[in-house]
Order: sequence, then structure tokens, then C-alpha cells
Amino acid sequence: MSATTPSPRRCFLFMPGDSPRKLEKATTLDVDAVIADLEDGVAQERKQVARETVVQAFQSLDFGYRERWIRLNPADSPLFLDDLVATFAARPQGYVLPKVESPRQVLRLSHMLQVLEHARGWPAGHIQILALLETGQGILRAPEIAKADPRLVGLMFGAEDLAGDLGARRTREGWEIFHARSHVALVARAHELLAIDTVFVDLEDLEGLAAEAQRARNLGYTGKMAIHPRQVPVIQATFSPTEEEIQAARRLVEAFQAHQNAGTGAFVLDGRMVDMPMVRAAQKLLALAEQIAGRSTP
Ligand code: COA
Ligand code: MG
Repeated sequence: MSATTPSPRRCFLFMPGDSPRKLEKATTLDVDAVIADLEDGVAQERKQVARETVVQAFQSLDFGYRERWIRLNPADSPLFLDDLVATFAARPQGYVLPKVESPRQVLRLSHMLQVLEHARGWPAGHIQILALLETGQGILRAPEIAKADPRLVGLMFGAEDLAGDLGARRTREGWEIFHARSHVALVARAHELLAIDTVFVDLEDLEGLAAEAQRARNLGYTGKMAIHPRQVPVIQATFSPTEEEIQAARRLVEAFQAHQNAGTGAFVLDGRMVDMPMVRAAQKLLALAEQIAGRSTP
């Protein structure tokens, strides 16, 4: 991958930080990013083991092109500081901060990263942050959180914790979380951040997963979290432009150029009006296709 082409970030696969087997398994999967969890995927008495296991795995295994992320415990929890200090040597791509409810929490993490980077002589601002919004307050304050700090590269939406927080009842159709899900995508994309959709907990239902991932993509989500290897190919595929979409986008951009050269703005292609917003969407799709094509293969 060239230094100028950003990596695609379609699927983020979670694994419990205290499971060396799953961490190792991740290095064999075609997945854009992995998240070693220190939070709810790890039992209370296993937190220290998890920190050590993650550092060991991230330092000794070859993850290749796969981005390595670590999910901390929440910024206000007593585990947070130890999680960070104990795992910093693993030099992850970044940290996922769960249950974010205020910009202050993102700033707190960012300041600590600054101190730790400085202490090691690493470039300042290198380690990134993803904020997981999964409480009523977090969703409502998304616009402030999105602007909190330049290290923040994306917002993640957590439906299960949100439903728990609100007392909402989860249904297959998901209308109870629809507003919050749309809101997170809207805010993230308005700030040019990644928008990463919630996990899909039914491990057997890959069709349901594909349909849900497609709906998320339609809303503007750029990727989705996974919890099991078998979910990964479904998510990676759903967030990749299809060959048909790429061809259509190329035709549209070319037709637009030709009409621009002839002095026309809006025009008709295949019976449909085309104007600038559609051209921009086509250009974004082509840029993503290029990122995916440019990524080195496993
Ligand atoms: N990452 C990497 N590998 C995984 C994995 C994951 N998230 N989930 C399962 N695997 C591996 C298993 O180790 C097993 O490989 P092996 O046979 O070589 O050991 C294979 O995939 C099949 O696993 P399976 O038996 O179907 O699942 P399981 O019963 O071992 O685990 C879960 C089921 C849900 C516990 C497991 O998928 C998991 O831990 N998911 C992530 C949970 C998490 O991190 N939650 C926090 C965020 S919501
Ligand atoms: Mg959670």
C-alpha cells in the first residue's frame, strides 16, 4: 500500500483480549481491522491477564495490513488508566473508547496519549481514537464529541448498550434504535469521520447480518463491527463497492466531464437526472474502490 492511500476500514473484528487463540486467529482472517477488547468481553478478574496478552500478541504476531486496535474500559472507570499504561507498548493504531458521553472523556484519553507518546519519543498525535457512542447521553452529545480532538477518526454506534441504557426493547427490525443509528452516521459523516455500525449478535444469521450491514451502508456508515470470524466476509463485502457500482460510477463521472466540457451542468443518463451531488458520490465510491484495490492482500 502506498503511503498516500489510506487503508479501507470496513470490518472491525472484536476479540476478547485474554484469548491468545482468537488474537492469533485474527492474523489469518481477511479483515481490515481487529479490536482486542479489555472491556465487556473480558471478565473482571481477567483484566490484567488481558492487558498482558494483548501486548504480547501485538508485539509478537504479524498482523500484516490489519489495523490493530485496543478497546479500553470507559474513561471514568478505575480500570482506564491501567489499561492504557499497560498496553501502550503494543503501539496500536489506536484505542476504542467505549461509552463516551462527553468531549472531556475523549480529551482525557488524548492528553494521556500525548504524554505517553512524548515519553517514548514517538511522533505526537500518532495514536488514533474511535469513540463508541452507546448511551442516551453519548448519542445526544455526538456533535460535540465529534469535534473533541484531532486524534478522533471515527464514531462507532453501539446498539445493545444503548437499548440497555434507554430501556428500549430490541427487535429484529430495529426501529427502536433507528433514530440513534441515523444520528451517529449523520454526525460522523458531517465531520468527515468514519462511521462504524454496531455489532450483530445473532452469529448464525448471516443473511440478517448482510441485510443489516446494507441498511447501515445506505445510511452512510463506512463499516461495521464484527464479533465472529464468519461475520467478517459478509461485512467486508457489503462495505465494498461492487464491480457494477464501480462501472456505473465511472460512466457517470465520464459523462459529467463530457457535459461540463460542453457547458452543461445537469444532464440525463439512462433516464435519470445527474447533477453535482451524484457526481461527488460517484467520486467517493471510486476513491474507496481504489483504497481497497491498493491494499496489499493477506
Ligand atoms: N476473533 C477471532 N477468532 C474467533 C473469534 C473472534 N472474535 N470468535 C471465534 N473465533 C475462532 C475460535 O477461536 C474458533 O477457532 P479455533 O477452532 O481455531 O479455536 C473459531 O473461530 C470458531 O469459533 P466458535 O467455536 O464458532 O466460537 P466460540 O464459541 O469459540 O466463541 C464467541 C463465540 C461469541 C465467544 C466469540 O466469537 C467471541 O469471543 N467473540 C468476540 C466477543 C467480544 O470480543 N465481545 C466484545 C465486543 S461486543
Ligand atoms: Mg458494550
